[in-house]
Amino acid sequence: MTKVTVTRRLHFSAAHRLHIPDLSDADNQRLFGLCDNPNYHGHNYEIEVSVSGDVDPQTGYVVDLGTIKEIVESEVITLLDHKNLNLDVEQLRGVNPTAENIVVVIWKLLEGKLPSDLTKIVLWETPRNYVEYTGD
Ligand code: NI
Repeated sequence: MTKVTVTRRLHFSAAHRLHIPDLSDADNQRLFGLCDNPNYHGHNYEIEVSVSGDVDPQTGYVVDLGTIKEIVESEVITLLDHKNLNLDVEQLRGVNPTAENIVVVIWKLLEGKLPSDLTKIVLWETPRNYVEYTGD
């Protein structure tokens, strides 16, 4: 069979503050700079969800990307979009909401819920910064 990876990109907007309560204000400022702003700041996040599988010889698809979109919307986007990631999201409670930590939470939300193998999630925090996670 022929294995191909297909990817769907989705968007959400959210606020956060990078801050470690156990550290001093000076240390937080040194570590996180503007991202430690006490009243939060926002990002327009983009996520790219990749699944892999055999190409169906009849449809020519690995999977209908519309199905991937619907599942990511219901499992991830509704949870994170227009939320404060420090305060509003149970799965991020007590976690410093860096892109690294957010992408791992997104993986856990999607693991086992997609009709093909989840192989990679890319999370763009700005047009210049992204992280990627493959479940390791
Ligand atoms: Ni930020």
